[in-house]
Amino acid sequence: MPDDEGAQTAPSPASAASRVLGSTESSDIPRHVAIIMDGNGRWAAQRGLDRIQGHEHGTDNIRIITHAAAELGVQYLTLWAFSTENWSRPAEEVQGILRILAQAIDSETEELHRRGARLRHIGELDALDPSLRQSVLDAIELTRDNNAITLTLAFNYGGRREIVHAVQSIVREGLNPDDITEDSIRDRLYSPDLPDADLIIRTSGEYRMSNFLLWQGAYSEFFFSPKLWPDFGADDLVEAIADYSRRERRFGALAAPTSGR
Ligand code: FPP
Repeated sequence: MPDDEGAQTAPSPASAASRVLGSTESSDIPRHVAIIMDGNGRWAAQRGLDRIQGHEHGTDNIRIITHAAAELGVQYLTLWAFSTENWSRPAEEVQGILRILAQAIDSETEELHRRGARLRHIGELDALDPSLRQSVLDAIELTRDNNAITLTLAFNYGGRREIVHAVQSIVREGLNPDDITEDSIRDRLYSPDLPDADLIIRTSGEYRMSNFLLWQGAYSEFFFSPKLWPDFGADDLVEAIADYSRRERRFGALAAPTSGR
């Protein structure tokens, strides 16, 4: 990934945010933002590059968006990098994505740690080769006590599979059916302390959930950007958050009486 050249002179996302968000209270910043990073392939095709180069540029953007999110005060950022269905892509592309993940863990962990980011993973690591699996686990261990932002990588992740695994654990543990609550399931998800997603962003003009965060997204607000993931910048993140901050979240209840609606 390239260095953060020019980062000193560019307006920071936080100052851009204060312009766009105006008088927004910090409580209007979503605590947990999750992103379906879509469009790397189309971005590459538009430039006559191969798909892997699109994923490389998409990975460069992960760094930019993670730093911007932390600066904006987002506490949890979850990025969907590889779904359980992505294994059906051509072997060359799958191998390329695995290589990029390995390189990114190698080259980015120290900087993430220095900036106080805590790395987590949701999904199944078992399918990865042992050395890649171990580097992911080492990065998680190294950063476990950091608290600037929690960056959760959804890699080999599927929302339905996550719920199936939780149910399997419940059955294995022999819980009494009458004792099973929503908390029983939440406690057995891949990362039980990951809060519900407040805002889910999908790039590239697609309007689907595609099996992402099915449990944690029950009451999420959605923001769909026409931009392809490598082009989705800090200013786009600010715009998504500004849009979110103007929404009224009712969680199935009625509008607050003071809202005038
Ligand atoms: C979606 O674009 C992107 C992916 C399925 C893979 C994203 C992977 C990375 C950004 C690399 C992973 C690296 C790390 C560090 C986690 P697409 O390929 O579906 O694009 P398209 O819809 O335009 O074809």
